[in-house]
Amino acid sequence: MATLLMEHGFTPDICGSATELRERIREGAGAVLLTEEALELAQIPELLDRLRSQPFWSELPVIILTHGGESRLARLLDLAATAAGVLTILERPIGSGTLVRTIEVAIRSRRRQYQVRDLIAESRSQISALKENERLIRMQEERLRKVEKLAAAGQLAASLAHEINNPLEAVTNALYILQNFSGLSAESLQLADTATNELARVSRIVKQSLSYYRVDRSPREVDLSELLEESLRIFQEKFRKADLQIEARIHPQTNILGFPDEMRQAVDNLLLNAVEATPKGGRLCVSLRLTKDWKGENPSGMARLTISDTGCGISGSQLSQLFEPFFTTKAEKGNGLGLWVVRGIVAKHEGSIKIRSSTKTENRGTTVSILWPLAKSIMNAGTDH
Ligand SMILES: Nc1ncnc2c1ncn2[C@@H]1O[C@H](COP(=O)(O)OP(=O)(O)OP(=O)(O)O)[C@@H](O)[C@H]1O
Ligand SMILES: [Mg+2]
Repeated sequence: MATLLMEHGFTPDICGSATELRERIREGAGAVLLTEEALELAQIPELLDRLRSQPFWSELPVIILTHGGESRLARLLDLAATAAGVLTILERPIGSGTLVRTIEVAIRSRRRQYQVRDLIAESRSQISALKENERLIRMQEERLRKVEKLAAAGQLAASLAHEINNPLEAVTNALYILQNFSGLSAESLQLADTATNELARVSRIVKQSLSYYRVDRSPREVDLSELLEESLRIFQEKFRKADLQIEARIHPQTNILGFPDEMRQAVDNLLLNAVEATPKGGRLCVSLRLTKDWKGENPSGMARLTISDTGCGISGSQLSQLFEPFFTTKAEKGNGLGLWVVRGIVAKHEGSIKIRSSTKTENRGTTVSILWPLAKSIMNAGTDH
């Protein structure tokens, strides 16, 4: 039979045992041709039974050659018929034409099954590619939405700045007149000075928003310690109202090469966040010291500003979103732009920012640390104060 099949272009494998047959099936045999007697080998019915658990696209064709007439192995044949999916029973003696034709049909059917298998695999991979595409598109849409929101916010800021400009001029003039008013006490004069300085800062921010392209691009040496003290002074009233205890350890004359207004903006945003997060009676620690960078690789070149609070803390899932624009947990009260702006400012100063937080009762609170590269002039002043 093998010779006959070979003559017709098939590659028959004669299996001497059930193990060998199982191996050939595993390797992808196109069809199984068995004699009735082989069913008596203990493992063959078991092997046929296993064919039941083929993948849904697969039905290995099995052809059994019987003696014809009443078979003494009728029971085994029945078993084979229920087990194997496509079972053909041929009675011997069998004409060579019938045998070849039957094998041909079986192989063709098996080939179809493989085609179906490949098609299924292909459409599965197409489906997962489509899903991935969909995910990417959704991500892009989300990004686009944010960019649009930012553009709208920018426009709004510019028009606000424009509107604010006129009353600002008026108040600045009024303050100027007040400062030169002779009947003013020393304390009132100092308050008027503070108001003038703050107003000048607002005025600069407004001008920057109006003339976006003409923002001061060359940094200068700024004493961060002074800037910080000034900020804390301005916030004093806010701290008092929120009943917060303030601890400040500020290393004097900590010069940074930078843009003072933006540095103030960063510090104020962080202080504001801390105040907003901390309930009455809480504590706020502000420290500024000379230090190494995070990895200790730059031992004399950094100033570390740390602002910690005993506020509500930030949950783990929110920590990763803090610097995204418009991420806020304050509903209408927050824009979610504060930290995004702070990160931009820190990056502009070639610094880095880290936020640690806990919502556990025993150490609830948030610590924001910023490393600022020091200006060259104090690089040699010492470390770790
Ligand atoms: N010190 C902090 N303690 C607890 N949560 C904080 C703290 N700082 C920031 N967060 C959380 O991070 C979010 C984002 O802060 P971010 O300053 O960017 O925006 P915002 O304060 O909500 O709004 P705004 O634009 O007015 O600053 C806050 O809504 C808050 O949930
Ligand atoms: Mg904020």
